[in-house]
Amino acid sequence: MVNNIVWHQSHITKQDRAKLTRQKPCILWFTGLSGSGKSTIANALEEILYHNGNFTYLFDGDNVRHGLNSDLGFDDKSRIENIRRVGEVAKLFVDSGLIVLTAFISPFIKDRQMVQSLVENGEFVEVFIDTPLEVCEQRDPKGLYKKARAGEISDFTGITSPYEAPLNADIHIKNDNISIEQVCETIIDYLVKNNYITWRDK
Ligand code: ADX
Repeated sequence: MVNNIVWHQSHITKQDRAKLTRQKPCILWFTGLSGSGKSTIANALEEILYHNGNFTYLFDGDNVRHGLNSDLGFDDKSRIENIRRVGEVAKLFVDSGLIVLTAFISPFIKDRQMVQSLVENGEFVEVFIDTPLEVCEQRDPKGLYKKARAGEISDFTGITSPYEAPLNADIHIKNDNISIEQVCETIIDYLVKNNYITWRDK
């Protein structure tokens, strides 16, 4: 597929751009069931990072599926392609110097590993939003679990399509009986400890 195409090396590198943004670019890859809280947490975290002076971009499954991936459904093959494209775009955004937050169910271990393999060591941080299926189903913010149980939606994650939980996530959030502030604090602590960001006292 890449016959006759030669990589063109940019003069300005990722390291140059990262120096300007004063952060270590990476992908914060949120994974978890629908309704687990991925988008809510990623949004709240992005806001904190923004006010800390960090340069970020958030990719959300529901939004990306309206544009870039509007041609994809929810069968296994489509989900694999969904994650492959998002991984490639996220890689470019990391190259641009950003901290990228992604909120996709990304149900398959192999696909998450594939994204990890696209970027350099330390540039992929897997954040498992671990919310029991019963809790997600009870919350059912979009009414999709109800529809899935009624057989109106096929291939629904956790009901008629599998979710493979991370075995060794970098950050494991048990998102049940915990405040969003506490969750964000845990992730910020991780980012500071691992030198992705500097916490700027205001
Ligand atoms: S992924 O599995 O391919 O990573 P993605 O995160 O992009 O999924 O999209 C999941 C969102 O699409 C859910 O939060 C939900 O709002 C919606 N959705 C619609 N149909 C399904 C389905 N069959 N399974 C899971 N989510 C679905």
